[in-house]
Amino acid sequence: MPSPNSYPTIIQGGMGIAVSSWQLAKEVSIAGELGVISGTAIDSVVARRLQDGDPTGDIRRAMAAFPNQETIKEILNRFFIEGGREAGKPYLDVPKLSIKGNLFSNNLLAVASFVEVWLAKEGHTGIIGMNILEKIQLAIPAQLYGAMLADVDYILIGAGIPAQVPQLLNEISLGNKVAMKVDVADTKEKHYLHFDPRSLGIENFPTKRPLFLAIVTSHALVAYLNKDEETKPDGYVIEYHVAGGHNAPPRAKNHVNEEGEAVYNELDTPNLEKIFASGSPFWLAGGYATPSKVREALSFGAQGVQVGSLFALAQESGFTDENRSSILQSLADPSMRVMTDASASPTGFPFKVIQNNQTLSNDNLYKERTRICDLGYLRTMFQREKGGIGYRCPAEPLDNYEFKNGEVDQAQGSKCLCNALMADIGLGQTRPDGRIEISLLTFGSDLEGPRALRALHPEGWNAMQALNFLKSAI
Ligand SMILES: Cc1cc2nc3c(=O)[nH]c(=O)nc-3n(C[C@H](O)[C@H](O)[C@H](O)COP(=O)(O)O)c2cc1C
Repeated sequence: MPSPNSYPTIIQGGMGIAVSSWQLAKEVSIAGELGVISGTAIDSVVARRLQDGDPTGDIRRAMAAFPNQETIKEILNRFFIEGGREAGKPYLDVPKLSIKGNLFSNNLLAVASFVEVWLAKEGHTGIIGMNILEKIQLAIPAQLYGAMLADVDYILIGAGIPAQVPQLLNEISLGNKVAMKVDVADTKEKHYLHFDPRSLGIENFPTKRPLFLAIVTSHALVAYLNKDEETKPDGYVIEYHVAGGHNAPPRAKNHVNEEGEAVYNELDTPNLEKIFASGSPFWLAGGYATPSKVREALSFGAQGVQVGSLFALAQESGFTDENRSSILQSLADPSMRVMTDASASPTGFPFKVIQNNQTLSNDNLYKERTRICDLGYLRTMFQREKGGIGYRCPAEPLDNYEFKNGEVDQAQGSKCLCNALMADIGLGQTRPDGRIEISLLTFGSDLEGPRALRALHPEGWNAMQALNFLKSAI
């Protein structure tokens, strides 16, 4: 366990899909803070970059350091295209995740997580974390192991209650088989995902067990997780509802207004005195992106802050230049609106969406898109009436969803985040009619920090400039 004065003050938030790139995390880490890569859908990211020819050679350089080269051969054979795909040719998809577990899929998840962490750690001694979503349960064990193989220092998990993660980390680092309880709708039966780290054919145990920070929104959840050594994380990121990405649902009932926006009140404000009294180290996130807010967080007894939006706009982030500059431009517009959309995300959690006519937040573009579920990360499992486990997603074609006993009324506004967020980083799928998937942009709704930094750097900034800004009052 690091001593309090070796904890980072700034955590660069994990932003999916691959907005928190290894390039961004590496710069933050070299500067002495915690750089975090996003592990969300990283298997698809790596597979698509290989199909685009891996022009810089970075992925193959990292792969060459992976301890099982047979696995690497198999992945390269399947996905690598010298010189990149032919123009207009769709990407070959990775296998969808399933509870049965599939060796190729686990290998790919582990290798992709390894690649991203390894690249972020290459050539310096700073610390690196990996962020994943609790909601994508079927990917968790293989991703944890892959990141551990690259000597990851921190794991950060939100969007759900990550009670099983401390034990998973303990067991996987020892090379023990794990059985992770997973959510299956329409049944009371318990279901488990089984994972054997030794199935990857690498005998390197024990591996370093990284520290685990749970991303939560309330003191009640801190008390709940801290109650038992098996569920207690090594610290917390306390995320306020203005944070970018997914937000916890509001605690009050009838919390959606006529515009479909989640509405929060004082019940959603965490009690920092109670969190401080818990004795666990913590960081504050969501609107803690100005020099004075960093100082304020420290005065509450926090170790520091986790910041997302500022870093999403840094030159090293995974956003395409077009998306980065469109957000930068919007910031100059006083009417810029970031909506806490209650129905956009298939997870059912509110999701922050920048209102922008060129993206899927434009209703016409959303309606023109043909629904398809070909990546499937946000599918939920359900018990089939005739037996067996099925998979459904509210953003899939509505008749399919209905056939699978999904509640169609609640699926009307659901957007395919998997495809849209791949488009955000320039890896959008090409469809048979030649169209390319359209972006949907998420961002924090507290614009004070990004606007203040834009005033200093109107043409944009890099990670180092964002860090200097954040730390200028401490
Ligand atoms: C573009 C973007 C994507 C995000 N994606 C994720 C994610 O995949 N997982 C996660 O835990 N948090 C995600 N977040 C939240 C950030 O990690 C961070 O906690 C949050 O942005 C802090 O609030 P701020 O934007 O006001 O700084 C995302 C934020 C942004 C802006």
